[in-house]
Amino acid sequence: DQKKSLGGKTVLITAGPTYEAIDPVRFIGNHSSGKMGFSLAEEAAKRGAKVILISGPSSLKPKHENINLHRITSAKEMLDKVLEYYDTIDIGIASAAVADYAPKVVASEKIKKNEDTFTIELIKNPDILKTMGEKKAHQFLVGFALETQNEEKNAKGKLAKKNLDMIVLNSLRDEGAGFKNDTNKIKIFTKNEKIEFDLKSKENVAKDILDCIEAQYLK
Ligand code: PMT
Repeated sequence: DQKKSLGGKTVLITAGPTYEAIDPVRFIGNHSSGKMGFSLAEEAAKRGAKVILISGPSSLKPKHENINLHRITSAKEMLDKVLEYYDTIDIGIASAAVADYAPKVVASEKIKKNEDTFTIELIKNPDILKTMGEKKAHQFLVGFALETQNEEKNAKGKLAKKNLDMIVLNSLRDEGAGFKNDTNKIKIFTKNEKIEFDLKSKENVAKDILDCIEAQYLK
């Protein structure tokens, strides 16, 4: 029987991709499956936390009864849902792959095939995690960084810029890490520490992340 180390705590987790509509049938999205975020939700719930899981489109279903799943589609909807709960949470973990840009105009009818080239104007989406960081009071905030180059520098930059307590780096240059895989390979950074982990199942990566959060937050 596991000890309920997160008993009495509320943990908000963002997961999955966001889809940004182009017209009624098309969208801009990415390869996130939701596996990393759903694994974090299961592990936090097993440790006794009340979990608010806010996920973009994903075929996954939560198992643990302490997980309250809210399904959203776009970055704007994810931000609204996060803000609805933000004041009530103790820990926030942002594992979602949020689209940085969305089409400026969503066509009301299916766009017809016409010219040889076609341009979509994009406009910046809200940065959900940065907004959480700006509003931070008692919350312990954990971000992810998905990088393809200058990984450590970029991750540390995001830790500072988004006012986080911890950041989890995964690199698409590591075999078996990142999107869709059942495995991930991470490095965790806090302001003063760097911890490297081996390639593991996302269930076990979630355990490592929550162990680190507990070591920092519950100390
Ligand atoms: O879902 P899986 O298939 O299991 O894949 C897991 C994952 C690869 C998606 C996950 O491990 C991961 O790395 N998630 C973060 C992906 C990402 O968008 O990273 P980023 O470096 O672009 O963003 C940095 C941080 O800011 C992230 O915590 C992100 O959730 C957050 N963010 C980014 C942009 C934005 N507009 N709002 C945000 O909140």
